[in-house]
Amino acid sequence: MAGREWITHHPQGERRVVVTQELPGARWLAILRAAGCRVDVCRADLPLTAAEIRAAIGGRCDGAIGQVAETWGEEEFSALRAAGGRAYSNYAVGYNNVDLAAATRCGVAVGNTPGVLTETTAELAAALALAAARRLPEAERFLRAGKFRAWLPTLLLGTLLRGKTAGIVGAGRIGVAAARIFVEGFRMNLLYFDPQPQPALEARVRAFAAFLRAQGEPDVFCRRAARLEELLAAADLVSLHTPLTAETRHLIDARRLAAMKPDAILVNTSRGPVIDEEALAAHLRRHPGFRAGLDVYEREPEVAAGLLELENVVLLPHIGSATPEAREGMAVLAAANVAGRLLGHPAWNRPEIGAFLGDSPPAASPSILNARELGIPLFGGGGGGAADSGLHPAADRE
Ligand code: DGY
Repeated sequence: MAGREWITHHPQGERRVVVTQELPGARWLAILRAAGCRVDVCRADLPLTAAEIRAAIGGRCDGAIGQVAETWGEEEFSALRAAGGRAYSNYAVGYNNVDLAAATRCGVAVGNTPGVLTETTAELAAALALAAARRLPEAERFLRAGKFRAWLPTLLLGTLLRGKTAGIVGAGRIGVAAARIFVEGFRMNLLYFDPQPQPALEARVRAFAAFLRAQGEPDVFCRRAARLEELLAAADLVSLHTPLTAETRHLIDARRLAAMKPDAILVNTSRGPVIDEEALAAHLRRHPGFRAGLDVYEREPEVAAGLLELENVVLLPHIGSATPEAREGMAVLAAANVAGRLLGHPAWNRPEIGAFLGDSPPAASPSILNARELGIPLFGGGGGGAADSGLHPAADRE
C-alpha cells in the first residue's frame, strides 16, 4: 500500500474491506462499519494499477469496492480469494471492466449499482443533445474569446429538436429515461432499438400523444425499430445506451455513421468503445453539419486524435452519473453489496432498488451479478440470479 495515501476507518473491525477510491456521503461507510468491517480507503486522484490493487488486497481482505477505471480480472480475483475475500462491488452500474467469469471461478460475488444513476445519466444525455444541437460550448468559446460584437441574424444557428425524431439505442433504464425526456420535454418522436420490446414506454408515449392532441398540439409517435440501420437512417438525434459487450464494441462504425443523416446528432453516455472513435473523428471532419456529444471514450481518459480540434463535437469527462444523489446512492449500493455478502444475506436483484436508500434497508445485497452461478439465494426465496428470479429484463443493465 506504499506510494498512495490510505485512510483506515473502524480499525477494530473483524473483517477487512478495501475501497480503491474515496466515495461520497457517509452512509456507505456506516453500512460497512455496521457489518463489522475495517475499511481501508485509498485517497488517489488516479486509478490504482493492477499491482497496487493486489498489494492493497494483501494477505487478508474480505471484500473490495473498485472503480470502472480499474481492471478487475483473474489476477485480482485470485488475489482476493487467496486473501479470504468473497465479495467485490463495482462502483458503477456498467461492469465491462470486470471479468465476471473469473470472479465466479474464484467464488467472489460481484455487485453493481443499478437504479440510482438512471435520471442523472439520462439528464446528461439530454444536456449533450442540447449542447450539440445548439452549439453551446462553441458559442461559449466564441463569447469568451471576445468575438461577440453584435447580435446577428445568422450567428451560430443550431438545430431545433422539437418535432424531430430521437433514436434510442438500448432501451434499458437509462435509455427509457432519456427517451421520456426527449419525448415529453422536447416533444420529439421516438424510435428505439432493443432486443426487448418496451410496451410500458410505448403506452406512455401513446398517452402523451393523446394529451398533446387534446391540447390541439402536434402529437408524437413511438416505434421499435426492427433493425439498427432503420433507426440510424430516420433519427435526427441518436442516443446510445447499450452496455459494452463483444456485440456492441464499435456498434457505431464508419458504415453506420454513413447511414445516418448528414446533419444528425450522435450522443454517447454509455461506454466509449461502442463508437469507433477514429471513424467518428473522420466523419465529423467530412460532415461539419453532423454533431456529436460524448461523455465516454474508447481509451479513457485519452480522446482520439483530431476530436479535440473539432468544433462540431461536445466533449465531457465521463460525468454521466456525477450528481450527489447518484454518486451517494452508488456508494450505498456498493457497500450494501459487499456487506450483504459478508453477512451471508441473500441477493435482492429486483428493479426497485429504492428501499436501500431508505431508513430500513432490506437485509440483502442489492445487486449481485453472479448470484445464480454462486448459488446465492434471492431475497424472498428463489434459487439465485436473474434466470430464476423473474427479474425485470432491464434489471441487470442500465
Ligand atoms: C456507470 O455507473 O457505469 C457509470 O459509467 C459510472 O458513472
